[in-house]
Amino acid sequence: MVLTQSIGKSGLQYLSESKEAFQSRSPNQELLPLTASVNSRDRLEIGGCEVTALVEQFGSPLYILDEETLRAACTQYRDAFKRYYPGSSQVLYASKAWSCLAVCAISASEGLGIDVVSAGEIHTALQAGVSPDKIYFHGNNKSREELQLAIESGCITVADNWHDLEILADLGKLGVSSKTGEPTRVMVRFTPGIECHTHDYIKTGQIDSKFGFDPGSLDDVFKFISQQPSLCCIGVHAHIGSQIFELQPHDDLADVIVETLTKALSYGLPATEINIGGGLGIRYTETDDPPSIEDWARTICTAVVAACERQQLPLPKLLCEPGRSLVGTACVTAYTVGSKKVIPGMRTYLAVDGGMSDNPRPITYQSVYRVVAAGKMRDSLTETVTIAGKHCESGDVLIKEAKLPECRAGDVLAVTATGAYNYSMSSNYNRVPRPAAVLVRDGKVDTILERETYQDLLRLDRLPERLGTQK
Ligand code: LLP
Repeated sequence: MVLTQSIGKSGLQYLSESKEAFQSRSPNQELLPLTASVNSRDRLEIGGCEVTALVEQFGSPLYILDEETLRAACTQYRDAFKRYYPGSSQVLYASKAWSCLAVCAISASEGLGIDVVSAGEIHTALQAGVSPDKIYFHGNNKSREELQLAIESGCITVADNWHDLEILADLGKLGVSSKTGEPTRVMVRFTPGIECHTHDYIKTGQIDSKFGFDPGSLDDVFKFISQQPSLCCIGVHAHIGSQIFELQPHDDLADVIVETLTKALSYGLPATEINIGGGLGIRYTETDDPPSIEDWARTICTAVVAACERQQLPLPKLLCEPGRSLVGTACVTAYTVGSKKVIPGMRTYLAVDGGMSDNPRPITYQSVYRVVAAGKMRDSLTETVTIAGKHCESGDVLIKEAKLPECRAGDVLAVTATGAYNYSMSSNYNRVPRPAAVLVRDGKVDTILERETYQDLLRLDRLPERLGTQK
């Protein structure tokens, strides 16, 4: 059988594999969700649901999230850290990748904690039932109100700068605390000075970064915290960037972070945790070749154990906080084709009913995506087209060169690996309502995010009376 739209490392050949076999595949190395298959009508199915039928039922654009892939990624992270790290460990889901109740609740049900970066993400995690003990609050410019919310709800704050520490200390003096009245738990984030190869916008480990304390200031930081009765420094944190395919930077990070923990301990701080951040890349195209979740975890665990041995340090609790590699390849976005513009000898534009508002990554980072025609999975790929969005912006192109069977208005396309930083970065540009998102599993489908309505778009609009309604 020739699968003409076979995409990815091993593409759709996995179709007939057993459940056990697919669960051992690392989701971040796949282009399609693990449950992807092509049915007898030549249509793409995810989680046992036909993508074209989902579009008929829920409309498009539509984010289709495969529960099994998300759970498999959570399990693989959790189990790999258990297997390779003799101390205790905790995987956190970096919810900036996709913060919504369902994704937070699924990752929490798999035993993961959550990394949040705003009061909105704290609120979402708490409402999803995540234990505040497992919520870590990041951010380079947290407001006083946000810090107060984090403290009062019992979350752990990752102090990024002096502004954070001063507010935290001040809130402590005013008696702001969690219900238990314990000192406020803080981690200290620093820039480890480690470069990695990724897009400049998503690098964070280099010294010239807006995130984290400069390493040269850490003595003062630890001394300051040790003098604050309301603060308890439980550990240190560093994150080097996102969509990283190399293992070496994380190996290097282990040393730096363990050294920093030793420094914190030298100030008498009760620091017992290290968090090495997230950053593992995913496969967006055939040429992307990220390490597996297992290899990433093994590299980090081994490096941390070795670094602790060198420093003669008992093993700290080891945390990591992946986002993209947990949720990225678990989702596809289905669009309906509309207009087609053929410029002879130059290019064919195929326009879809979404674009930069539901996936701002191509226009922001020049990210490359793959697409399949979800209703024609065995048709030959005869056309090379540019998939354009519907926004009033020439740069609103989702895919510059896509190979597809001949497509016309009404055909459904599925863009792959859209689970991370798509919904969470979506906008209402051109007053386009945000798409719905559904969760699929074993042929069942649940709405996890309603499609925005035109009424939703006007919900916050106010028309001053004196302007009246123009006739
Ligand atoms: N921890 C911290 C402190 C972070 O800043 C990030 C991502 C993560 C964890 C999760 O990294 P991941 O495992 O997802 O690579 N909007 C960009 C990505 C921004 C990443 C921001 N920080 C994109 O669409 O590529």
